[in-house]
Amino acid sequence: MKNLNAKITAFGKYVPEKVLDNFDFEEMVDTTDKWIRDRTGIVERHIAADDEASSDMGSKAFADMQERFDVDPEEIDLILVATITPDMFFPSTAALIQDNIGAKNAWGFDLSAACSGFVFALENARRFIESGDYKKVLVFGTEKMSAITDYEDRSTCVLFGDAGTCVLLEPTEDEEGVLDSIVKMDGMGKDFLYMKGGGSRNPASHETVDKKMHYIYQNGRPVFKYAVNNMVDAGTELIERNGVSNQDLSLFIPHQANKRIIDACASRLDLDDDQVMINIDKYGNTTAATIPLGIIDAYDNSRLDKNDLALLTAFGGGFTWGAILLKWSIEQ
Ligand code: ACO
Repeated sequence: MKNLNAKITAFGKYVPEKVLDNFDFEEMVDTTDKWIRDRTGIVERHIAADDEASSDMGSKAFADMQERFDVDPEEIDLILVATITPDMFFPSTAALIQDNIGAKNAWGFDLSAACSGFVFALENARRFIESGDYKKVLVFGTEKMSAITDYEDRSTCVLFGDAGTCVLLEPTEDEEGVLDSIVKMDGMGKDFLYMKGGGSRNPASHETVDKKMHYIYQNGRPVFKYAVNNMVDAGTELIERNGVSNQDLSLFIPHQANKRIIDACASRLDLDDDQVMINIDKYGNTTAATIPLGIIDAYDNSRLDKNDLALLTAFGGGFTWGAILLKWSIEQ
């Protein structure tokens, strides 16, 4: 049997209608538009409606995929959902999405890797495709970060936004799609970025709610440092071992946590501005949805065409991180 690669053949996105801009935050906490822009690059972010959960946003992203491409939900074999904001502990968001979109022949599961979720899910999906047993795998990155954000904590609330995204992976015998990947984890990062309550360690109680344990906690400075170092190391290793030069890369699509992190990575990878995808200004940090939002916006703005080489890098809670070298497969 010939070697199989996994290529992205379709994609879709959904961003909620409601927008919170930096001036809205000036009314909510002790901050300024200038501080947020200068320190993060974020200008606005979308916030889901009260009755809109991660599975709803993922399902709407799939509806967008169906408007753009001819995709039959009954042909889907597997659904992988990267999210740290599942609708509930169980059933999985994958099961909820499967029911919503009518993918009745698919099985699936959720995957928790915070901001590296999409890269981890893509790595899983491509292994299923490469096995030859799976023909159509849907990968979702969908997050309602507003559900776990403390809107009284200025150090985190300005950072996050909500969005749903999905991509479809299919096999190809050509040298395209996911060419190579690096995925890593170091659990020592558990103390820098986490949500304390709600799980089996601190089950939900009046006390955990009173102590605000159901929100994101982040020690921003060390996270910033580890994010830059690890994304640069993974990206460098990947391009070196594939004999690719930095100038061969059409686009660097990093996780969008902070524009200063992206700028630092791009500079250390020796990339020009026009090689770097930045859309954090429009969405904030949407965790597992940032990289697919980057891919889709790049395509929609004619920055990604068939045979272009893209480098994806991610870093998130855990710590988790990784990089993927992707040869884009869809013509403009
Ligand atoms: N407005 C005004 N001042 C603020 C705000 C705000 N919104 N937030 C924090 N400050 C203040 C702090 O209180 C502090 O004041 P002090 O000096 O009087 O104590 C000062 O600004 C500096 O605070 P730092 O936290 O040191 O600011 P920093 O420059 O590091 O920026 C930030 C903070 C934006 C969070 C940055 O550290 C960062 O981007 N970190 C990485 C984020 C990331 O990559 N996350 C990973 C993915 S998230 C996930 O996986 C779910």
